[in-house]
Amino acid sequence: MLRAEGLSVEIGGRTVVDRATFTVAARDKVGVVGRNGAGKTTLMRVLGGELDPTAGSVRASGAYGYLPQDPRIPGVFDTRTAISHVLTGRGIDAERERIEKLRVAMEAEPSTRNIERYTRAEEAFRVSGGYSAESEARSIAAGLGLDDMRLGLALGSMSGGERRRIELARILFAGSDVLCLDEPTNHLDVDARDWLLQFLRQYRGALVVISHDLELLDEAITRVLHLDRPDDADVGAVVEYRGTYSQYRKARAADEERAEREARTRQREIDRLQRVVDRFGAKATKAAMAHNVERRIARLSDGHVERGRTERGLRLRLPDPPSCGRTVVDATSLCMAYETHHVFDDVSFSVGRGERLVVVGLNGAGKTTLLRVLAGELEPRLGDLQFGYQVKVGYFAQEHDNLSAEESLLENQRAATGADDQTCRSVLAMFGLTGDKVHQQAATLSGGERTKLSLAMLAGGRHNVLLLDEPTNNLDPSSREAVAHVLSDWPGTMILVSHDTWFVEQLAPTHVLVLPDGDVDHWGRDWLGVVGLS
Ligand SMILES: Nc1ncnc2c1ncn2[C@@H]1O[C@H](COP(=O)(O)OP(=O)(O)OP(=O)(O)O)[C@@H](O)[C@H]1O
Ligand SMILES: [Mg+2]
Repeated sequence: MLRAEGLSVEIGGRTVVDRATFTVAARDKVGVVGRNGAGKTTLMRVLGGELDPTAGSVRASGAYGYLPQDPRIPGVFDTRTAISHVLTGRGIDAERERIEKLRVAMEAEPSTRNIERYTRAEEAFRVSGGYSAESEARSIAAGLGLDDMRLGLALGSMSGGERRRIELARILFAGSDVLCLDEPTNHLDVDARDWLLQFLRQYRGALVVISHDLELLDEAITRVLHLDRPDDADVGAVVEYRGTYSQYRKARAADEERAEREARTRQREIDRLQRVVDRFGAKATKAAMAHNVERRIARLSDGHVERGRTERGLRLRLPDPPSCGRTVVDATSLCMAYETHHVFDDVSFSVGRGERLVVVGLNGAGKTTLLRVLAGELEPRLGDLQFGYQVKVGYFAQEHDNLSAEESLLENQRAATGADDQTCRSVLAMFGLTGDKVHQQAATLSGGERTKLSLAMLAGGRHNVLLLDEPTNNLDPSSREAVAHVLSDWPGTMILVSHDTWFVEQLAPTHVLVLPDGDVDHWGRDWLGVVGLS
């Protein structure tokens, strides 16, 4: 199905994969894991033929379906309807559009010729299974939380998350032999995610999935490929483990412990030999022998310095929020509508200093819209918004549209915080963005690195209110924990949108706002179930 042999992959001057050999057979379900920036997406692009390897080969048989991590769909006209786009998965969109045109023509002018042309085309479509394929496409989309109404909309009018779900539906509908999914659960609520897990379990082709979603990894896969590249300067190796993700974690922990022990033993041996050399060094008669020992030291150190090192976690700190008035936001009768549809009306709430408000609601209920209104990026259609005395709002946008893609990390950080380079660098470093990386263009960052840059930009600013829209998407598990930890200790005010129940629980919210109704309630554990549905 898919075989990589002696595969080496480079990106941005780094070798992210070095001479990897592995096979993914039909019905194999493989999870690819590794820290943010390890090179998982890059490897996937090579497997999909989008990028050339620097050495080795990839052989694949059968059709290949690939869901990129980025929700943007390149090269697709925004005016096309969502359902048409899903149907391109099996190339039946053009046929369906032709029938639609013939129908319109027939209705405008019901001549014998037009009726015949329409009937013939419609018949051919039906006989070739076009309608049943279309209903299959619709049921896949429905599983992912896109109803018929949404499917009729133009792609251009959909949110990034919705477009990504459309793209996922298209790929699942296409029925590829090899399915490669990069972070498929990023924009899914609990229902859609359960549906996807079920789909993947029954899937008969080969599956390669990159995910930081531990549950998905445990339920849908049978093998783990760990892209092991502890640090940006390291060369990456692909290490293979049989079994589920939990089994992999145990095996991996044992491996790391053993490697650490070996490294310690090796280091002791090196130190011992070094003392011998130091003693010999003074005597000319022993020079040859000293040289020999030195060669042995070199051999011991060679190629081993990287091993036994585990990935470093983030050590985050947030500055204390500058003081502000007791009431932070007062929203009265907010009403929002886009040209095509109504989002919410008559939403009123108020948030006090130090409170933590979670905004919940089904897909399309207007959570992101509300945050954008609070961030001042959108004008409410009606209603009134008052901020308290000396309130300074920081906004984490779900799709990172506040990043300047052309500029470097350092430039972005400087623009967001106005701090000097030294300060900017030290905040970026907290998020694991160090060394030359700070000069890299934001556009070329990995998904998780982009999330970290956005968080660094928030952490470096002097805010007392944070608006957080899905801040844990793309983060690897240890970074996600670090972010949850630092935020849960931060005494400032937060307004949060997240479908990550674990994360919301860590943050211990004080209130919940339900959209589109606008009801406000005190937080209680019962609400966690609703968070997952958001
Ligand atoms: N054009 C480029 N120039 C320099 N570095 C690049 C370029 N493109 C990618 N990189 C770097 O290569 C590394 C691997 O990126 P990749 O997107 O494959 O990571 P990933 O494992 O998928 O991470 P994540 O979990 O965050 O999605 C990252 O550190 C990224 O910043
Ligand atoms: Mg990635």
